[in-house]
Amino acid sequence: MAAYSARVGPSILNSDLGCLAAECRRMLECGADYLHLDVMDGHFVPNLTFGHPVVESLRKSLGTEPFFDMHMMVARPEQWVKPMAAAGANQYTFHLEAIQGPGPLIKVIRDNGMKAGLAIKPGTTVQQLAPWASQVDMVLVMTVEPGFGGQSFMEDMMPKVQWLRSQFPSLDIEVDGGVGPDTIHKCAEAGANMIVSGSAIMKSDDPRSVIRNLRDVVNEAIVKHMLDR
Ligand code: DX5
Ligand code: ZN
Repeated sequence: MAAYSARVGPSILNSDLGCLAAECRRMLECGADYLHLDVMDGHFVPNLTFGHPVVESLRKSLGTEPFFDMHMMVARPEQWVKPMAAAGANQYTFHLEAIQGPGPLIKVIRDNGMKAGLAIKPGTTVQQLAPWASQVDMVLVMTVEPGFGGQSFMEDMMPKVQWLRSQFPSLDIEVDGGVGPDTIHKCAEAGANMIVSGSAIMKSDDPRSVIRNLRDVVNEAIVKHMLDR
C-alpha cells in the first residue's frame, strides 16, 4: 500500500462567501475530505480574504470533525500561528517565499498543535524547497500564481511534483490552482495526492461527482504507481 492516499479539499474562495459555513457544509456533504481555506493579506498577494475570526466561526458552526488546511498567503506567517491554532485550524500551510529559513516556524506550528505545510509559488524551484520537504507534513506546489481563483492550470509545474514524488515517496503533495476534471490526470500522473479545487467544484451542478472523480483519478494513479514499481 502507498503511504499516502488521495484526498480532495475544495477551496471555498469562489463560493458564496455570504453563506460560507453553509457552503463548507455543502462541500463536506458532497464528500470533501478536507477544506482548503485561503487566507490573503493584500501584501503577499494582491487580494484580501479573511482571517482567524472567520475560521473560529467556521469551526463553531461545523464542529470538530472537518480538517481545515489553512493556505496562508501572507507576508508574515509567523504572526498568525497562535490565533489560527486557537481558532481551530488543523494545518498551517505557509509560503517559503515569505520567510527566511522555515525551520523555527515549522517548530512553532507543531508546538501549537497543528500540522505544517510548505508552499511554493510557480517561480520558486523545487530545489529551494527540497531541504525542508522531509520536515513538513505536506508540500504545496502552486499551479497558478496565488491570489485569485479561476485561473488556468500551469502544466509546467508538474515536473516539480514528479521530482518530489520520486524523492519523497510517502510525502503528502498538494496541488492548487486550476485543478479540475480537465487537469486532474496530469496532477495524478505526476504524483500529487492532495487535490485542491475551487471553481471546478463550486461552479459544477454536481459537486459530488466532481469530487468523486478527482479522488478516483488520483487513487487509480496511486495503484498504477504501486504496480509499476
Ligand atoms: C489561489 C488559491 C486557490 C484557488 C483555487 O490563490 O490559493 O486555492 O482558490 O481556485 P481554482 O481551483 O478556481 O483555481
Ligand atoms: Zn489555495
